[in-house]
Amino acid sequence: MALSSLLTLLVLASTCWISVNAIYSKNSPVLQLNAKTYDTLIAKSNHTSIVEFYAPWCGHCQNLKPAYEKAAKNLAGLAKVAAIDCDEEANKPFCGQMGVQGFPTLKIVKPGNKPSRPIVEDYQGPRTAKGIVEAVKDKLPNHVRRLQGDAFQKWLNDPASSAKAIVFTDKSTTSPLVKSLAVDFLGSIAFAQVKDKATAEKYGVTRLPSVQLVTATGEESITYNGEINRDSLLSFFSQVAPPNPDPAPKEAKAAKSKKSKSTPSPSASAGFSRASEAHKSSDFDDFLASSGTIVLDDDLPTDSPLPIVDHEEKPMVVPDVAPPISTLPTAAEVESACLDPKSGNCLLVLVPTALGPPVPSQPATSALASLAEIAHKYDKRKASMIPTYAVPDDNPTSTTIRQELGLSPAGTLEVIAINMKRGWWRRYSTEAYDIPGLESFIDAIKLGEGSKSKLPSSLGGIAPDSSIAEPVEAAETVAEPEPEASPTTDHDEL
Ligand SMILES: *[C@@H]1O[C@H](CO)[C@@H](O)[C@H](O)[C@H]1NC(C)=O
Repeated sequence: MALSSLLTLLVLASTCWISVNAIYSKNSPVLQLNAKTYDTLIAKSNHTSIVEFYAPWCGHCQNLKPAYEKAAKNLAGLAKVAAIDCDEEANKPFCGQMGVQGFPTLKIVKPGNKPSRPIVEDYQGPRTAKGIVEAVKDKLPNHVRRLQGDAFQKWLNDPASSAKAIVFTDKSTTSPLVKSLAVDFLGSIAFAQVKDKATAEKYGVTRLPSVQLVTATGEESITYNGEINRDSLLSFFSQVAPPNPDPAPKEAKAAKSKKSKSTPSPSASAGFSRASEAHKSSDFDDFLASSGTIVLDDDLPTDSPLPIVDHEEKPMVVPDVAPPISTLPTAAEVESACLDPKSGNCLLVLVPTALGPPVPSQPATSALASLAEIAHKYDKRKASMIPTYAVPDDNPTSTTIRQELGLSPAGTLEVIAINMKRGWWRRYSTEAYDIPGLESFIDAIKLGEGSKSKLPSSLGGIAPDSSIAEPVEAAETVAEPEPEASPTTDHDEL
């Protein structure tokens, strides 16, 4: 009894370790999801989101983190930037349902015509903050009518939508900020943007841009005089109704009927970015306040500088994903991939398995991530990497190999190189399963350096040639800094 509960604890502890080890910290601007919260926070939202499906051991996911967090800060208040750990047992079926095949996978989720039936598209653009920010801004729902002349007059007098927000501007596009505000007040304030000067003058607007609020049809409009940032604008519009809570409260219907009567509270009025549970840190509030600072026009006074400087655009980066090391779950697959008498160099990663599907322990996760990176480097310079496979402990061949080669028993990570054709094998015996260590192991094998052991005949080893050196292939290492462009802030305008 005691032993079994201890075992349960150990299993739980190792599972939890992975979630603690998730890429994004609690204070990250990236909203962390699980299979359940995806529905309420993303699928049912009126805002657009981008969701990263990742695994903590994946090198490219780790590389993406700074750019992704930067994108999250830049998009704060405009769109949700979220991530889900697909290595968590509970999330695996969901990640599968979403068609995730490699890590990281980025998907843009835009509200569809029906609630909770969003339009989901893969993001294939550059893995830079700028690339992500631009693509997401491009998919913001637009509930802002662009009107002029008679059409504007008609809209203004339409009693169906009693409260109206009007943005008089000389811009012919609608800014992400205005789009996001229109989403926040969806159902309570109708938004329009007017470009035409004559119409503006008719309504007494002398300076562009100008934000006006009509609280009820036929009422005089109220001109907004505050600082142009998202928080202040939210408070201004909240005199009509508070912004829609996002996620919607559980008793959505009851709340809705009371909504227009409740008093707007400025602290709750920052919209979805404050309402989402994962975003309670004070850090988040800080940057929300700063990145919400916007500038109307150069000639208007503003005491806040632009939060992010517009840098010169760097060349586009081709999406760069290291595909994970393939797993060979059956004996037959190992046989044909590496243990056939004609098989050449092969790298086998004997991965400990815990409870059914592999829950990689720490060395295994780093070994697989490092090897995936190395393989990817080879691939990019069109060099041939030694075929590399993960063999979980529940594959019977793993036990055979461990026994025949005198390796540690199941439960411990082992990385071996094996060459059936030449009848040798070699164990990776360094403690660190990092890229440099594994890379030099691979280089040595490719260069025919280092000592090799003869394969036992039980493993199909036949008397090898006297020379067991492989043809020499030049080993090279390529340093690959990931270019990173800073996002522009074109949402800092009305
Ligand atoms: C979405 O918009 C509708 C109005 O169209 C609103 O009633 C609802 O509360 C909004 N939902 C969220 C989660 O913001």
